[in-house]
Amino acid sequence: MTQASGTPDVPDLGRRQFMNLLTFGAVTGTALGALYPIVKYFIPPSSGAAGGGVTAKDALGNDVKVSQFLTEHGPGERVLVQGLKGDPTYLVVQEDSSLTSYGINSICTHLGCVVPWNSSENKFICPCHGSQYNAEGKVVRGPAPLSLALVHADETEADTVSLTPWEETDFRTGEKPWWA
Ligand code: FES
Repeated sequence: MTQASGTPDVPDLGRRQFMNLLTFGAVTGTALGALYPIVKYFIPPSSGAAGGGVTAKDALGNDVKVSQFLTEHGPGERVLVQGLKGDPTYLVVQEDSSLTSYGINSICTHLGCVVPWNSSENKFICPCHGSQYNAEGKVVRGPAPLSLALVHADETEADTVSLTPWEETDFRTGEKPWWA
C-alpha cells in the first residue's frame, strides 16, 4: 500500500470510524474542558494541604495571607484562625515578625472553653475556671490537666499557612503529645 492510496496509518480502521473516533475525542476533550471549572468549583481550593491538614482561615472563612497578616499583627501577638477540624487556633508572631512553625489550639484542656491570650500577663488565661498556660501554651496552673495542643503551621508558596497535625514530641514538655 502506498501513501497515495488513502489512510496508510490506520489500515484496519474505516475512514468513517476513524473520523468518529476523532470527533469523539474532540467532543470528549471539549466536554472535559468545560466540566473542569465546574468540578473545580465544588472542590474548595484550599482544602488540599497535604497530610490531613488544612489552610488556616480567618473569621470570615478566607485563607490567611501571610504577607498581609504580618502587616496587621506585630511581634508577640497570638491571633486566632480556623484550624484543624475548625478548632480556633493561635498563630504566633515572633520577635522578628515571622510566624512560629507551630500553632496553638485554643481549646482549654479542662472543659473546652476557648482560652484568650492575655498580652499583659504574657499568658493564656481561661475565663471559665482560671487555668493558665504560658506563651507557648504549656499549662502552668490548673484545673486544666494538660497543655494546649499543638499543630504544625507552615507557610506555603501561595502565601498561606498550612496547618497539619503535630504528632511528634511536645517540645514544651519533652513528652509524647496527648492529643495525637
Ligand atoms: Fe478552662 Fe475550666 S474550661 S479552666
